[in-house]
Amino acid sequence: MNNILVTGGAGFIGSNFIKFISAHNGATIINLDLLTYAGNLENLKGINSATYHFIKGDVCDSALVNTIFADYHIDTVVNFAAESHVDRSITQPDIFLKTNVLGTQTLLEAAKKHWKKLPDDKYSREYKAGVKFLQVSTDEVYGALGKTGKFTENTALAPNSPYSASKASADLFVRSYHETFGLPSNITRCSNNYGPYQFPEKLIPLMINNCKTDKQLPVYGDGMQVRDWLHVQDHCKAIYTVLQKGISGEVYNIGGNNEKANIEIVRLIIHNLGKTDALIRYVPDRPGHDRRYAIDNTKITSELGWSPSYTFEQGMAETIKWYLDNQVWLDNIISGAYTDYLNEMYTTERL
Ligand code: NAD
Ligand code: DAU
Repeated sequence: MNNILVTGGAGFIGSNFIKFISAHNGATIINLDLLTYAGNLENLKGINSATYHFIKGDVCDSALVNTIFADYHIDTVVNFAAESHVDRSITQPDIFLKTNVLGTQTLLEAAKKHWKKLPDDKYSREYKAGVKFLQVSTDEVYGALGKTGKFTENTALAPNSPYSASKASADLFVRSYHETFGLPSNITRCSNNYGPYQFPEKLIPLMINNCKTDKQLPVYGDGMQVRDWLHVQDHCKAIYTVLQKGISGEVYNIGGNNEKANIEIVRLIIHNLGKTDALIRYVPDRPGHDRRYAIDNTKITSELGWSPSYTFEQGMAETIKWYLDNQVWLDNIISGAYTDYLNEMYTTERL
């Protein structure tokens, strides 16, 4: 792990991961990010510039991706780049197909080309030492659970939204490059992340921001959908563990056994900010809304020795404080374009 290509490193998890790697490993980090609405270079302020390079560009741009592999002698890829918001995938599925599926396949093809010992031999499955492609995937590829049970790595893929369908498709391409070409790879499937630098279209930062400014808190449906929350630092630590110890071709689920109904999260934020339930507004449900996610983390904990460090109480207290202390960061994000999106989502139809 000398030269890591991190894609989507200006987003929520990618920027936390780049800081994590900088603190734990001396590798050179190349961050390839298109800086869509979700990419924000402010997330990376203060990063050590001697070992870090930023390149603005698209993971679907094959020529650019190949140049980066050659110029920086890339030996590790961590692919975060994605359209990541389920609600947006309902109104604009095509960009999810392009970025999440084609983008992943473009990166896989470049990795195969640059990492094979004999690039022109289509039957050769030998790769340079120490190379690895890590696909950052999601528990949403497994679909929805009923009241009981958890997702294991053997649960059948059953994605329900265009977002999760695109992530499942990307996973299958990663699998196929491993099976057909022998590409050294892992897939990680994590549950919902929370923590600093999350774009405020997602549940937790959206609720903190609205609550603080006494805006209504839009709860979809009955608010009893369950998500399994993990602090973003624990996700970064898990990815680093899989990079170091993961067996090539294996999938690893990541989660901290921390199931909460959405309404519990909203009430926790209301309570923490000293507001009242009067701010809650039940709005029409998300189409195809998955009822419950829960991760069985036995494989990564028992085989690789990873475990989460944060308790939910500590993590949420720190996270709420972070958003309150970083109002300038939030203000800079809440640009014209983002305000238009929020108006479209939550005005006539939803509120
Ligand atoms: P995010 O939306 O905050 O960040 C995505 C980043 O990708 C942005 O910086 C954006 O500019 C960049 N990007 C988008 N299209 C690109 C393109 N064509 N080329 C290059 N860069 C591009 O997302 P996130 O929440 O940080 O999620 C990162 C990854 O982790 C995604 O693959 C997501 O599916 C996965 N994941 C997220 C969660 C979660 O709870 N947020 C949980 C599990 C897995
Ligand atoms: O499970 C992992 C996934 O978690 C990641 O793969 C996705 O990239 C990430 O966005 C997240 O998906 P969710 O759809 O679970 O996250 P979101 O924050 O959009 O919503 C969390 C829950 O809160 C979900 O049940 C919908 C609900 N919700 C969300 C918003 C934005 C509301 O009730 N009101 C809202 O305003």
